[in-house]
Amino acid sequence: MAQNDVLLRCSNLTKVYDNSVLAVDHLNLNIHSGEIFCMLGANGAGKTSTLMLILGFSDPTEGSVEICGIDVNKNPLEAKKHVAYVSENVQLYGNFTARQNLDFFTKLAGRKDATDEDYKNVLLRTGLAEEAHKRKVKGFSKGMRQRLGIAIAIMKQAKLILLDEPTSGLDPKGGMEFLRLIDDMRKEGCGILMTTHDIFRAKEIADRVGIMSSGNLVRVLEKEEVEKSDLEDLYLQYISQNITHGRIVSGKK
Ligand SMILES: Nc1ncnc2c1ncn2[C@@H]1O[C@H](COP(=O)(O)OP(=O)(O)OP(=O)(O)O)[C@@H](O)[C@H]1O
Ligand SMILES: [Mg+2]
Repeated sequence: MAQNDVLLRCSNLTKVYDNSVLAVDHLNLNIHSGEIFCMLGANGAGKTSTLMLILGFSDPTEGSVEICGIDVNKNPLEAKKHVAYVSENVQLYGNFTARQNLDFFTKLAGRKDATDEDYKNVLLRTGLAEEAHKRKVKGFSKGMRQRLGIAIAIMKQAKLILLDEPTSGLDPKGGMEFLRLIDDMRKEGCGILMTTHDIFRAKEIADRVGIMSSGNLVRVLEKEEVEKSDLEDLYLQYISQNITHGRIVSGKK
């Protein structure tokens, strides 16, 4: 797939929850092959809700999501083949080893051709030392779980990678190493949508930065603007101008 191909297309994406909270409000966002898009936003701005809609875990009230040109709501199984998700708390089987978790999730993703050598290499690539490959993950640190989450995403060979606060709670070295991995995936042509509260890291790694407030992107900055601007200052300006929590709407759309 060529660089700059559109991997994700959100069109007028809207979510009103059953409690009438408007969490995502007519969002338009495209993610391209070979780019990292960092989404910033206050607590309750609608970042995770957006990811849940993209993943098809929640149905949009209005609008649509396409992954590699496939509509997530019309053809969820086909669309999901092209996306991998790593959350802040990667869900793993505690009584399985790292290697067993990787094998399980790789097969679940439909890949039956992976060899022991592939598993070993990907775990080493993500920075999990060999002694950890055959250890049960219930004793793993947060950073180790994140690394395993990325290994699962790599094995899936998905083009679109969604990350929800992936470096939250990691130590500075772990956070930096994790972002280096993400950067490698970008170079290999993946498109990455990552939510974060870490403005410093967003500035460092992003090709574009979006500021989300009240369920929509109130500002998107290109790389040159990100480099030139005082991102923290800009972010605070936008956040202070907008209501930061999901709004209650009258009636459901
Ligand atoms: N399942 C749900 N049912 C009802 N309301 C929800 C649900 N999930 C989220 N919300 C509400 O939607 C709004 C957006 O929440 P969301 O979790 O998407 O924000 P966020 O930007 O990810 O915040 P954070 O930075 O704290 O993770 C909030 O007002 C939240 O309370
Ligand atoms: Mg969230």
